[in-house]
Amino acid sequence: MLFAQITDLHVRAAGDRLGGRVDTGAFLERAVARLNGLDPRPDFVLVTGDLVDGGDPDEYARLRELLAPLAMPVRLALGNHDDREAFRAGFPDLDYWNAGEPFVQYALDLDGSRVLVLDTLDQGKSTGALCERRLDWLAARLAEDRTTPTVVAMHHPPIPVGIPGMDRLRLLEGAERLEALVAGAPNVERVIAGHLHRGVTVRFAGTVLDVLPGAAHQVAYDAEGRAPLSLTFEPPMLQLHRLVPGAGLVSHRLTVESFDAYPFGGG
Ligand SMILES: [Fe+2]
Repeated sequence: MLFAQITDLHVRAAGDRLGGRVDTGAFLERAVARLNGLDPRPDFVLVTGDLVDGGDPDEYARLRELLAPLAMPVRLALGNHDDREAFRAGFPDLDYWNAGEPFVQYALDLDGSRVLVLDTLDQGKSTGALCERRLDWLAARLAEDRTTPTVVAMHHPPIPVGIPGMDRLRLLEGAERLEALVAGAPNVERVIAGHLHRGVTVRFAGTVLDVLPGAAHQVAYDAEGRAPLSLTFEPPMLQLHRLVPGAGLVSHRLTVESFDAYPFGGG
């Protein structure tokens, strides 16, 4: 199993820049080109939320266009900038989740591994929520398989990580039960998230919580929370999650920008 993760695309309508500054569509084009150039190619690409910036139908239409050149399947999760109904309307043809369900949650059963994708969108809020219904779904998925290496993917980190400005916007509802469920499932190799627009690794519920920087802009590092939240153009990142015999799930973080390689010793 080898899959790629990107997060926080914040796609806007064509010609429209985030904050008048960030051409998020161009950033996504670069990420798609980088993903297509990877060797070996990931089995699929998982996007952990904030697919678009304002939840508008035009943005989801643009997202479809921008993802179309991707050479591998894509799996989408929702973030606080998304709109659940506009997403449903924009992607009525997706076959990896049950459109009859009120939340965009699904299990990806892969060759010897699983990915459980959660929907932490609390519509209209920047903070995240996992209500009892969503957590019941997770509890059932974890209970049905206690051995297969499993990744839990979600947009909002469930715990504060020492960045006050963003910690306020974390998963608020359901965090304690989520932690108990993950702690009771030792086959959860990783919890992966986005939302912070920064890279963070921290112990969580007996496993590792890994937060990936965004595919476009980042949030300026501010461990004291003294300044207003600010955007910065630190390099966009993607992550490759791969099951390695003897090691378990190994995550490799790559810049979206690619760099030349030279043999050791010159030549
Ligand atoms: Fe975001």
